[in-house]
Amino acid sequence: MFVILGDDGILFSLKMSNFFQIIKKEKIAPNGFLFRIKAPEVALHAKPGQFFVLRVNERGERIPLTLVRWNRRSGTIDFAFQVIGKTTHLLSKLKEGDFLKDVLGPLGRPSEIKYYGTVALLAGGFGAAAMLPIANALKEAGNNLVTILGARSKDYLILEKELRRLSSKIYVMTDDGSYGIKGFVKDGLEMASREYDIAHAYVIGPAIMMKFTVAACQELGIPNTVSLNPIMVDATGMCGSCRVNVGGKTYFACVDGPEFDGSQVDWNLLLNRLSAYLNEEKHSYELFLKKKGVLPRGKEKKA
Ligand SMILES: Cc1cc2nc3c(=O)[nH]c(=O)nc-3n(C[C@H](O)[C@H](O)[C@H](O)COP(=O)(O)OP(=O)(O)OC[C@H]3O[C@@H](n4cnc5c(N)ncnc54)[C@H](O)[C@@H]3O)c2cc1C
Ligand code: FES
Repeated sequence: MFVILGDDGILFSLKMSNFFQIIKKEKIAPNGFLFRIKAPEVALHAKPGQFFVLRVNERGERIPLTLVRWNRRSGTIDFAFQVIGKTTHLLSKLKEGDFLKDVLGPLGRPSEIKYYGTVALLAGGFGAAAMLPIANALKEAGNNLVTILGARSKDYLILEKELRRLSSKIYVMTDDGSYGIKGFVKDGLEMASREYDIAHAYVIGPAIMMKFTVAACQELGIPNTVSLNPIMVDATGMCGSCRVNVGGKTYFACVDGPEFDGSQVDWNLLLNRLSAYLNEEKHSYELFLKKKGVLPRGKEKKA
């Protein structure tokens, strides 16, 4: 086994025996899964707020995913992902017992966990997965947690039970009103702020959701932390593809983040950069699905 250990404990582990084997696969939403894999070196050093990078196969793209849970004793890590393109599609087709090609991590700076008082956890869609370890750590630090969990509809809500257990109150929001309260996470925040004196907020979800939720935090005067998800290539600070602008300065989210002060983020730049390869990614996914004989979503033949 090769292990590269940096000053801050960042670690790279290479494949051996049952490394990177899928131990558990669970469908948690119509478009998403939770995997448990064997990755002892990552589990050993993982901290809330960190992520890792995986490759499904030899010629595969490397994609970043957030660490949701880890168990140092069993050497396993859990992660949750939604299927949105070629790599996440390939990942979703793997079965328990299969192996990932490689895993690199933990990466990124851990969350700065401290006592604030009441903390609002604002999670949209699969952002709930990244929120869970942060919620656990904030709770352990003595904070009172108020969670606002949002998704487009009931079936797309994930980890509700786990976040409910840690929170003194949870507001569940769905865009279509199929469960909980009809509305967005930012609407839930407005309700919560009438009931609680919120000292800090964590906001994690799609960039557009974070942009509007942070604006709501600013209106309410609530300092906030976001976890950014720009496109990453190497995820080790070398390529610059994950650059973001925060408070007028350029940062690389993979090494300087992924967490930043949400009120200082240039959201329009992030949203533009996220859509920079939209056509190429769509084209590549459609070609891939065509080769497999599957039609992309929305283009299926009606029965
Ligand atoms: C630090 C970090 C942590 C992440 N954690 C998670 C996680 O826990 N669970 C999860 O489901 N996803 C997470 N993501 C996003 C995930 O990496 C992308 O969904 C994945 O790379 C898409 O790969 P693909 O080949 O399937 O799709 P692609 O073909 O690469 O892209 C398909 C579509 O997704 C968009 N996209 C590509 N990369 C990203 C990105 N980084 N963020 C948002 N949209 C993107 C594209 O613009 C395109 O519209 C994280 C991203 C970062 C940077
Ligand atoms: S992904 Fe290359 S510098 Fe961050």
